[in-house]
Amino acid sequence: GYDATPYLPARGGLTALRRAAADCRGCPLFRDATRTVFGAGSASARTVFVGEQPGDQEDRQGEPFVGPAGRLLRKAMNDVGLDERQAYFTNAVKHFKFTVAGRGKRRIHKAPSLRELTACRPWLHAELDRLDPEVIVLLGATAAKTLLGSSFRVTKERGAPIESERGLMVATVHPSSVLRSDDRAEAYAGLIADLRVVAGLLE
Ligand code: URA
Ligand code: SF4
Repeated sequence: GYDATPYLPARGGLTALRRAAADCRGCPLFRDATRTVFGAGSASARTVFVGEQPGDQEDRQGEPFVGPAGRLLRKAMNDVGLDERQAYFTNAVKHFKFTVAGRGKRRIHKAPSLRELTACRPWLHAELDRLDPEVIVLLGATAAKTLLGSSFRVTKERGAPIESERGLMVATVHPSSVLRSDDRAEAYAGLIADLRVVAGLLE
């Protein structure tokens, strides 16, 4: 089956992980994507933000959360006083999955399958093993399910601290869903409310 485990380095920190992940072929997603987009941020981060997978801009630039969703996330963090310099940003899946649509050949994000999610999870666990955050923030259903299991429901359990083997987690919506929402102001307010809970846990 698909599995990133054979590509994980036997030792080393985040830098060694990032270097090894660049050559991962643990599932087929490496084929069409430009590059691995590994996690980035502070090695002594107080918060770790876990998204779904890199988007078009992240795939081009090689950094997580540098596109529209990332801009919205950073604005929301700033609004509640969460310091992005004390955060680490990563994704459940490290390669961009997409379909090409229309004459403009726009690359449209496609949700990762359960097999791809499972294949890539060793990278996420390896990152979390090397970090010691006070709170892990799960951005959307994919991130929540990969760390908390497939029965987890973001709509029911968002915005409340969850005790886990990894310490405290808080689930919220994915910033992309705010951008797609019919009522963007309301969706943004919901994201802010959940992130305020995260900020409160750091006090
Ligand atoms: N969406 C994600 O889930 N992750 C990114 O890095 C960018 C957009
Ligand atoms: Fe490896 Fe994850 Fe990329 Fe698949 S998505 S090739 S498991 S890094």
